[in-house]
Amino acid sequence: MITDLFGRPLRDLRISVTDRCNFRCPYCMPAEIFGEAYRFLPKDEILTFEEIARLSRLFVAAGVNKLRITGGEPLLRVDLPNLISQLADLPGADDITLTTNGYLLAQQAQPLADAGLRRITVSLDSLDDAVFKRMNGRGFGTRRVLDGIKRAAEAGLAPVKINAVVQKGVNDHTIVDLARHFKGTGHIVRFIEYMDVGNRNGWQLDEVVSAAAIVARIDAELPLEPAEANYAGEVAARWRYRDGDGEIGVIASVTQPFCANCTRARISTDGRLYTCLFATDGVDLRGPLRDGADDAELNNIIAGVWRVRRDRYSEIRTEITAAEAAARPKVEMYQIGG
Ligand code: GTP
Ligand code: 5AD
Ligand code: SF4
Ligand code: SF4
Repeated sequence: MITDLFGRPLRDLRISVTDRCNFRCPYCMPAEIFGEAYRFLPKDEILTFEEIARLSRLFVAAGVNKLRITGGEPLLRVDLPNLISQLADLPGADDITLTTNGYLLAQQAQPLADAGLRRITVSLDSLDDAVFKRMNGRGFGTRRVLDGIKRAAEAGLAPVKINAVVQKGVNDHTIVDLARHFKGTGHIVRFIEYMDVGNRNGWQLDEVVSAAAIVARIDAELPLEPAEANYAGEVAARWRYRDGDGEIGVIASVTQPFCANCTRARISTDGRLYTCLFATDGVDLRGPLRDGADDAELNNIIAGVWRVRRDRYSEIRTEITAAEAAARPKVEMYQIGG
């Protein structure tokens, strides 16, 4: 087991399989920046499935037991079930999951499950069509996403988790409806504090609705009680309905940072290793891979990066000024998938 400078082991690997997305959520890929002329990565700069599978095997050998496929929007990557089946064959990769916006999920849920995907997380910020249309930047309604969630559950990708980013004045008036809709379905809605990922979304602290406020609003209509974490370092704090009808989660990365237990590494679409969601830069793995590095050499790079890791951005966010935070160059969410 390798640990970083704060004693945190490497347990969780998140892999971005494409930088493209069919949505333009203003908090991630604002349409005015990511328009027709925007150049996404050319194919030869994107890791192949074989390269991803090889790296995953090395990370699993280094202690990772959870793999999450992200994007951009991962379901845009052609033949994704092929990658899932390669990952499912790795002994030690106990948990394989994926985060999607759900738009293409209805037709892909069953092939992904058949390939060995265990469960899935679908982003859905609101059930209110007008609000959702604004938040995905493309004017799409909720119907296809809801259909995708239904098909995923039918394909056994359970429990389905539903991620909702909460932005003050944008969708915070719809959170109770979202919770109520999925109460009793077995799906778990997780409300995420809006974060200053990247440098392009113009984040401001006063747009954040705290996890405490989110819980209070839901509790007032659908009474809640705290629940134990499923595992040490779980990102979401769990709250269960007092009537026994399921649970929700809140992800308080701004008001209650969880860096102390952060065991996550991320690989960008172009094969760079990032040790924090808010990192400025990553370490190139694609170059050595394509230059013929053997497993020992790649292992040395990975272990070397993790051993000197000292990231704790969400903890220092409140210690630096807003101007300092805004000036800090950070990787964009669509490159490493959140
Ligand atoms: P489970 O295995 O289902 O518990 O997954 P998870 O809790 O890792 O959830 P998921 O990957 O869906 O993460 C939910 C959201 O939390 C992400 O999309 C991010 O917005 C945020 N998040 C996840 N990991 C981190 C992290 O390391 N740091 C910060 N600041 N936010 C994170
Ligand atoms: N703050 C919080 N969550 C975000 N996500 C994307 N951008 C942000 C942000 N700025 C979420 C998406 C999705 C997951 C990949 O990350 O909504 O659920
Ligand atoms: Fe696409 Fe997800 Fe970013 Fe929205 S948050 S633009 S769905 S990658
Ligand atoms: Fe981990 Fe960085 Fe998020 Fe802290 S801010 S929890 S170190 S990814």
